[in-house]
Amino acid sequence: MTILILGSGGREHTFAWKLVQSPLCQKLFVAPGNSGTADIAENIDLKVTDFEAIKTLVLEKQIDMVVVGPEDPLVQGIHDFFLNDPEIKHVAVIGPQKAAAQLEGSKEFAKEFLFRHNIPTAAYQSFDASSLEAGYEFLETLNPPYVLKADGLAAGKGVLILNDLDEAKAELKSMLVDAKFGAASTKVVVEEFLDGIELSCFVLTDGKNYQILPTAKDYKRIGEGDTGLNTGGMGAVSPVPFATDSFLNKIEERVVKPTVAGLQKDGLDYKGFIFIGLIKVGDDPKVIEYNVRMGDPETEVVLPRLKNDLVEIFQAISNQKLDKIKIEIDERAATTVMLVSGGYPEDYEKGKEITGLHNLTDVLPFHAGAILKDGNVVTSGGRVMAITAFGNTYQEAIKKSYQNIEKLHFDKMYYRKDIGFDL
Ligand code: AMP
Ligand code: GLY
Repeated sequence: MTILILGSGGREHTFAWKLVQSPLCQKLFVAPGNSGTADIAENIDLKVTDFEAIKTLVLEKQIDMVVVGPEDPLVQGIHDFFLNDPEIKHVAVIGPQKAAAQLEGSKEFAKEFLFRHNIPTAAYQSFDASSLEAGYEFLETLNPPYVLKADGLAAGKGVLILNDLDEAKAELKSMLVDAKFGAASTKVVVEEFLDGIELSCFVLTDGKNYQILPTAKDYKRIGEGDTGLNTGGMGAVSPVPFATDSFLNKIEERVVKPTVAGLQKDGLDYKGFIFIGLIKVGDDPKVIEYNVRMGDPETEVVLPRLKNDLVEIFQAISNQKLDKIKIEIDERAATTVMLVSGGYPEDYEKGKEITGLHNLTDVLPFHAGAILKDGNVVTSGGRVMAITAFGNTYQEAIKKSYQNIEKLHFDKMYYRKDIGFDL
């Protein structure tokens, strides 16, 4: 079949790397893609939210399946766009419809869903500009630190955690009244702080059946020891060593099952990945957030461990036969370390040539913000490349990631040297 992946990150390069291994994949397009996907598929330059351009491409290239990498097109309703158009409604779209994508598109919607279906999560209330005073009063009932979340999509920046009550009140006002995060903070969810260690669980669903993929833990802060600004993710480890069988069982019983059943009860069609952000409080899992796509860089450690044919899995999702699939996982650990442009997540320069790629051994280099220019691989974004390695333990894998990174170079290259430090 002919497949189109939407997106341009390390996640999409990993999807491409995995899909081209399938005998069922005859032709693969990635839009817009990067230097990594250019090597194994055909890149098409278009915006992932330009649905008309995507439709034109799908018809012209006779594409059978569209795999949606990032959240924006899902939250904007790309799956519904296909279903509502007779010319393209036969195309399999991997990713939920707009109503279900609100699980990521609106924090308030996600909290209401969690409470409605008795799924463990932090206590909360939500506010808008007209209820600012009530927001202050709710903050006064909580213990510090205070967690404020912009309701809408804010490119991963919409969550503030503050130690001081006055500061929390000032930030709440700035979000609601001064549109600190634009339209995304028209509403704000204020919630109880949960103290524990985070991990993520990845679920595939066809709307009826589900399959659980390996857990992973990502490292979001720019600085070592989890300090400094938030990023898209600086590295990841899979599996998560503290996710024991009994803890995984709690996640399945208390979170995954009620989530999939809740989607059905609420009439929310869902064919795709559910990425559940969890925090382990004592010995219990609580949900921090839902994402309606795979994580990046979590994909770079989760998919390499999946032994199944991914096209077969996607077909099973599309045909609602996911119960017929038996997920097989590589027992080894996988780690990835993200190389980023100096200055990221703030201002940084682009166009730096990346050298040393030919010297890598026994690792999977997944390109992210990197493109081909005059035959060279050059940087084009903040997160540039994720170097994935396998090992019998995560310590062995991470050593291999770091040994290979030493062979790579671009001007002002930066990476965290402590991925996995807290395990
Ligand atoms: P979110 O976008 O909802 O995943 O929040 C971003 C990050 O903020 C999470 O990865 C957590 O590190 C942190 N966070 C969010 N909600 C809470 C909470 N209720 N308690 C503690 N930390 C939180
Ligand atoms: N690495 C976190 C995310 O993809 O949202």
